[in-house]
Amino acid sequence: MKRFVTFEGIDGSGKTTIINEVFDELIDKNYSVIVTREPTDSWVGKCVQECIATHTDPIVTSFTFISDRIIHGKEILNWLKKYDIVLCDRYAESTYAYQGAQLQDSIDNPIKWLMELSKNRFPIPDITFLFEIQPKIAMKRIQDREELIPFEKVAFLEKVAKNYQKLIDDKRFNCIDATESVEDITKHCLDVILSDK
Ligand code: TMP
Repeated sequence: MKRFVTFEGIDGSGKTTIINEVFDELIDKNYSVIVTREPTDSWVGKCVQECIATHTDPIVTSFTFISDRIIHGKEILNWLKKYDIVLCDRYAESTYAYQGAQLQDSIDNPIKWLMELSKNRFPIPDITFLFEIQPKIAMKRIQDREELIPFEKVAFLEKVAKNYQKLIDDKRFNCIDATESVEDITKHCLDVILSDK
């Protein structure tokens, strides 16, 4: 079984819908499960929201996301003692993909730089689902939301999606076609989480 499970993908890729479905199914199967997300609801998470909303300098934004994760990582380690499974909506790869895109014109190899800052600072997931979808299709799905955040633009999400592709060389990643049905994706995630492989 995979105990610490993260869900990644660009905005509008449908992660949150699937996490809720997976959570319900696992509870029905009598597992104890907690769902968490980043940015978190902590005071640092609120600083992150402020960074996004006010177009704060991407270096400050990067440090703030990583700070939020360092605190969150300690909570996750505690939850892993109490629960069978922790499901997390966005985690470290969001920083590598999004801040990697924000920093690509100001830092050499920003993904490597962000990874070095993060090294050994928080737990590594057992499995990371990467929801793959074309940014144009993802944006169509979310365009009717009351408020779009500054990252939700096709050109930016194209860069983010490319960065995600650079991260999947590790066998921890499980790529998902996010245009498949909710039922099929949920079943796939459950099979992977509950398998011993
Ligand atoms: P959300 O839409 O999943 O609540 O996340 C808010 C935005 O923050 C989303 O556009 C992705 C972005 N984000 C980053 O840029 N870096 C990160 O490390 C995380 C966790 C999220």
